Amino acid sequence: MKRKLAFLGIETSCDETAASIVTQENNELPKVLSNVVSSQMEEHGKFGGVVPELAARAHVEKIDFIINKALKDSGLVLKDLDGIASTAGPGLIVCLNVGLNVGKSIAAFSKKPLFAINHLEGHALSPGLENKINFPYLLLLISGGHSQYLIVKGLGKYKQLGTTIDDALGEAFDKTGKMLGLDYPGGEKVEKIAKKGDKNFFKLPKPIINKAGCNLSFAGLKTAVLRETKKINSEKMKYNLAASFQNTINIILRKKTLIAMDLFRKNLSLNKKYPFVVAGGVAANKSIRESMSSICKDKNFTPIFPSLKFCGDNAAMIAWAGIQRFKKNKKNDYSFSAKSRWPLDKSAPYMKGPGLKLD
Ligand code: KG4
Ligand code: ZN
Repeated sequence: MKRKLAFLGIETSCDETAASIVTQENNELPKVLSNVVSSQMEEHGKFGGVVPELAARAHVEKIDFIINKALKDSGLVLKDLDGIASTAGPGLIVCLNVGLNVGKSIAAFSKKPLFAINHLEGHALSPGLENKINFPYLLLLISGGHSQYLIVKGLGKYKQLGTTIDDALGEAFDKTGKMLGLDYPGGEKVEKIAKKGDKNFFKLPKPIINKAGCNLSFAGLKTAVLRETKKINSEKMKYNLAASFQNTINIILRKKTLIAMDLFRKNLSLNKKYPFVVAGGVAANKSIRESMSSICKDKNFTPIFPSLKFCGDNAAMIAWAGIQRFKKNKKNDYSFSAKSRWPLDKSAPYMKGPGLKLD
């Protein structure tokens, strides 16, 4: 029997208010019927970062409109849906509560099951929106709040191989952007001006590059960028610093990805080609994509990068995670509370804070 599933996804974990309708017929590739994302860049730009209370207020103001637009664009109505998927963490609690509560209300009103989705699971499964991809695969998740290497073994089954011990990579890009006088969020703008600079001009540190497996650290690099900005006296020097920063990131990611690839293969076939997925907002960066693709050739992995619209925060990835959870009967009840911290691999050690010792 043919079975077509239709889901509404809702995402409000940070500064994007998003809703999307995704369908899947049997086991075919899903179809994204609508994908509405409203960014709050203007609201937060003047503060140089996300202000939680402002973000929550903007979500409240926009969410009804965004959900209605997603439904209208898709050509479906509420009664066509099989479930509602809302991001429930990790993220800013005041923001998460907006999308989660709206999701609960719609689910209760329309008598549909509710799925409380881990935002990181959304990113982790996002390649499946456009690719037939088999488990297990290696994932590098790089966003504004997270930077981690994970083995994605199946739905809900994640093994963390490494993570950042301080700043997330997107955060490092954003802070570098701010130091270079670029508007928030700076990632894309740093990439743009880096094209005009000399990537070997500044010698910047590569924290923990030769230790701690595939764990990452960017705080020392950020401090070094701050030091170098004091010496900048021309636009050209600014471009050189952006290019040197991005080049240093690429050197770090190359080294750490090679380690992660070896760890991934430890209990798997040496000859088989596995997917290597780079997801999250920073995965939009072309120089990172090129550098990661070249490693894949040498290490027998197939590189997979979600389209730009599915790299940054979006609700299609949340609806898609909901569809997969629906198929495994993993619905949630209305008492589910939003979580600010929600690691995909609960057994992974917490790597932040003072007193951290790395071998
Ligand atoms: O996944 P995302 O939209 O939100 C979080 O879950 O955090 O990621 C946003 C991050 C921001 O830090 C932004 O500056 C960064 O992704 N980003 C980029 C690029 N495009 C977005 N970083 C580097 N290069 C880019 N082209
Ligand atoms: Zn995200």
